Amino acid sequence: MTLNHQTSDAALQGLIARLEMDQDLGLDYIHGGPAALDAIIRLSAEAKATASVPAPTHRASAPHIAPESDSAPAQSVLDKPAAHPQPAPVPATASAAPASPTPVRPPSGRFRTTLVPLPEVVANPAKEASIAALRAECMECGGCELCERRSSVVWGEGSLDADVMFIGEGPGRDEDREGRPFVGRSGRLLTDIIEKGMKTPRGQVFITNVVKCRPPGNRDPRPEEVEACSRFLRAQIDLIAPKVIVAVGGVAGCALLGLSPRSPGLRGKWHQYAGIPMRVIFHPSYLLRQRKDDADRTDADRQTWKDVQEVMTQVQGA
Ligand code: URA
Repeated sequence: MTLNHQTSDAALQGLIARLEMDQDLGLDYIHGGPAALDAIIRLSAEAKATASVPAPTHRASAPHIAPESDSAPAQSVLDKPAAHPQPAPVPATASAAPASPTPVRPPSGRFRTTLVPLPEVVANPAKEASIAALRAECMECGGCELCERRSSVVWGEGSLDADVMFIGEGPGRDEDREGRPFVGRSGRLLTDIIEKGMKTPRGQVFITNVVKCRPPGNRDPRPEEVEACSRFLRAQIDLIAPKVIVAVGGVAGCALLGLSPRSPGLRGKWHQYAGIPMRVIFHPSYLLRQRKDDADRTDADRQTWKDVQEVMTQVQGA
């Protein structure tokens, strides 16, 4: 790919954001480093210039950073009692990148301490640039008080061309430490559900959360936190445009549908989010709590299996 004066400003800004982020993360060797950054900034400034510059070299996939660890959130499932008032729904009609909310506080100095892989590069540079710019913005977000105690912003990971998007409620301790969604014990079960139940590599779906920063003590995200983060989630959904959304657990399902966390009967049926078919599955940490031992399989496991078969049928028919 060659960048030139016809490259849109949005695409250039997205690349600039990504290259700056690479520098912050010490990953600038991946996309061409400071030289590529300087060249793109110059090109952006001289939007009408006729000279072209080589694009940074894309890597094929995100680097693997840290090993998995074992803890799962203590409670975050359909059977969880409501600990707070009804969450603010993630608006289903927002545009891809609405205006930033006024930050309630700036992020603390330790807002990012872990090395996080960038989303996979896809063949659509405009989509890639928009996602990269949004992600860079999210990394700096001080839109709610969750920014104060986070170690990482857990943006999400997977294919930007995913047919299926999994959305959990929020990062737990392991995810906060590693900067990746669903990496603890319940994350490994979610990976099994995707890879064994849906026969799909985890890297082919996109996995994220309603809120991108860890709620302390694994409490539910509060309505104002859901609201503050909603523009990022909504933009992720708009840009990825999955065929199916899977809400992982009732808390995520209720947040997306604008219902109280206690709302019963969400799983086992189809819902819609912004016109996209949506299924709510049991949270893997709930499935793990139901099991007597590692070999045990419960009704909840069997129901989840059925749910993901429905998801695959929907994807194949869409
Ligand atoms: N639970 C969630 O809802 N999200 C994660 O990323 C991990 C555990």
